[in-house]
Amino acid sequence: MIIEDMMPEIGEISIREKLLNCLNSNPKTLPCMLFYDKKGSELFEKITKLEEYYLPKVEIPLLISTAKKLNSEFKYCNLVELGSGDCSKISVLLNAVPKDIRQTIVYYPVDVSREAMEKSGHILQERFPEIDIHGINADFLEHIESIPENRKRFFCFFGSTIGNLTKVRTMEFMKHLGEVMNKNDRLFLGVDMVKDINVMERAYNDIMGITAEFNKNILRVANAHLGTDFDPNDFDHVAFFNEELSRIEMHLKAKKDLEVKSPLLKEKIIFKKGETIHTENSHKYTVDYIHKMADTADLCVSNIYSDDKKWFSLTEMVKR
Ligand code: TRP
Repeated sequence: MIIEDMMPEIGEISIREKLLNCLNSNPKTLPCMLFYDKKGSELFEKITKLEEYYLPKVEIPLLISTAKKLNSEFKYCNLVELGSGDCSKISVLLNAVPKDIRQTIVYYPVDVSREAMEKSGHILQERFPEIDIHGINADFLEHIESIPENRKRFFCFFGSTIGNLTKVRTMEFMKHLGEVMNKNDRLFLGVDMVKDINVMERAYNDIMGITAEFNKNILRVANAHLGTDFDPNDFDHVAFFNEELSRIEMHLKAKKDLEVKSPLLKEKIIFKKGETIHTENSHKYTVDYIHKMADTADLCVSNIYSDDKKWFSLTEMVKR
C-alpha cells in the first residue's frame, strides 16, 4: 500500500478561525467535520447498529447484490472511493467480487484523514492481499483529477456522504466530477431516498439517545479547540425533516438564555432560549432529483439499483 499526500497542512489557527466564524454567523452553525473525534467516532459506530438507523441495513445488502450483478465489469478497473473513511463499505463490495477479478483491481481510497486511511488501508490489505492499494490523502471535492486514467475508473461515493453537502455544493461537486470523468468511467452514488417522514425522523431520534449524545459531543470538541465553556446539558438534540429542502436537519437547541466564553474572544457568544446551532444536514433524494444531478454533471443515469422498499439507491452514472 502506498499513500500520496495532497492535503495542505491545516493549522490549529485556521480551525479555530473557522469555528469562531461558524459560531458568530446567523443562524449559528458548527462544521460537521468536528463530529468524528475519538468519542464521536465510537458513538457513530453505535448509531450504525441502532434498530432505528436503517441506512446501513439497506445499503450493505444493496452493495453486495450490486457487486455480484456487476462482477466481471470490475476487471482491470481503477476503483476510486471518495471519502473512504474506515473502508468498511468497499470491503463489503470487494468481498462480493471473486478473487480472480479482485486481483486485477487497483483501489484508490480518497480521504481527508491520513490517520484513518493508514489504519483502514492496512486492515483491508491484510484481508485482500491480492489488491493494489493506492491511497490519496486529499479533499475529494478538490483533488480528483489526479486519479490515473490508464484504465476505466469506477468512482464510488457511498454512505450517502453526498447527503451532507448543501445543494449548491452538491451541484458544484457533480459538475466537477462530470468534467473529470472519461467515456469508460462510471460513477456509483449511494443516496438515501425520501420515504415516510416517521421512518426518517426516527432514524435521527433514537430512543436510547445515542444520536443526541453524538450531536452534543460536537460541543465538547468545540471546547477542546476554542477553550469555550459549552455545557452539553444546556442543549437539546433536535432532528426533523425539512420538507421544502428535502433533508433531515440536526440542531442543538439552547434550553435557556446562555452566555458562552472563550479566552480567544473579547465578547461572549450569546444564546437566546430556543436558539439553535445547526450542526448537520442529511439530504434525502427522489428519482427526479437524481436525474437533475446527472444533468448538472452532463452525465446520464445508466442504472438505479435499489432495495424492495426503495429506501436507498445506488445510482450508476456514465458520460453522455
Ligand atoms: N450524516 C450522517 C447521516 O446522514 C450521519 C449521522 C447520523 C449524523 N446521525 C447523525 C450526523 C446525527 C449528525 C447528527 O446519516
